[in-house]
Amino acid sequence: MTAPILEPTLANLGLAAAALREGKLVAFPTETVYGLGGDATSDRAVAAIYAAKGRPSFNPLIVHVGSFTAASRLVEMTPQAEILARKFWPGALTLVLPRKPRCGLSLLVSAGLDSAAIRVPAHPAAQGLLLMCGLPLAAPSANPSGKMSPTRAEHVAATLGDKVAAIIDGGPCKVGIESTVVSLLNATPRILRPGGITAEQLGEALQTTVEAGSESGPLHSPGQLESHYAPILPLRLNADTVVAGEALLAFGARPPAAALARNLSAQGDLEEAAANLFAMLRELDRPDFTRIAVMPIPETGLGVAINDRLRRAAAPR
Ligand code: TXA
Ligand code: MG
Repeated sequence: MTAPILEPTLANLGLAAAALREGKLVAFPTETVYGLGGDATSDRAVAAIYAAKGRPSFNPLIVHVGSFTAASRLVEMTPQAEILARKFWPGALTLVLPRKPRCGLSLLVSAGLDSAAIRVPAHPAAQGLLLMCGLPLAAPSANPSGKMSPTRAEHVAATLGDKVAAIIDGGPCKVGIESTVVSLLNATPRILRPGGITAEQLGEALQTTVEAGSESGPLHSPGQLESHYAPILPLRLNADTVVAGEALLAFGARPPAAALARNLSAQGDLEEAAANLFAMLRELDRPDFTRIAVMPIPETGLGVAINDRLRRAAAPR
């Protein structure tokens, strides 16, 4: 049985909030990608999220709350966290911070770590849902583990429709790529996953350098697994020509001719490209083609996050 797709009316958000309070899962829109939400204080609800995604349970989930105040009840808002939160929340930034003792969060949500990843989403439907259910919501992207993140309600319905009580339809996601995950556990902030807020924006806000790249130690962000965000077809990156059998994911004003093509942004605008990325990859992921050729994307600003997702989508499986 596949879940109803609901407009984000007050009545529907009320129904979804009630389902969440009963421990059920609800897919909801955020400005980055659609999330697969469940009660972050309930081990059972969090376990149901891991099961629905087929996600390795050592990968911790992001906890969504409605406000700075709600966040500060769950995690230690350090001075750097406060600066970033005041500047970028609500928005596409996730902060990894020490969990407060007796914060009530499920241990499973942080996969047993003594830190938690927290974010205040900006999408009004997400805000409404958080307000109405009164719970912190664990919400990874609403896709099966390893696959592309959903940026439309239909994407969720196609893969996880039978795993949730409802899908809230908030239209296409404006940012289109997941939030930036920043760890503030050490003196130097470290980007664990590039995303909707760029390293430049973070550095400027903090007036300090921000480390990019991979977390050392036992923890790996799922954002750091080799193959991730993958369509069914293989990808060929930095293509400037198209060979027989290939569909083309273009960028910029002068794409080569192709039998099937989508252009991330003819104007070369990286924000537009991020917003189009996952939906266009889905449209090109057709069985009558053998591969997707992807034109080069500049490695600046949001291009860093776009290229990160493309490299993972192209990684050996
Ligand atoms: O845009 C987004 O962030 C979306 C929307 C739905 O909000 N959510 C999302 O959640 O992408 P998820 O659970 O797929 O991504 C969680 C990321 C992973 O890279 C994970 O490893 C990292 O956050 N993470 C979570 N808790 C962590 C922790 N305690 N320490 C280090 N990394 C953590
Ligand atoms: Mg994901």
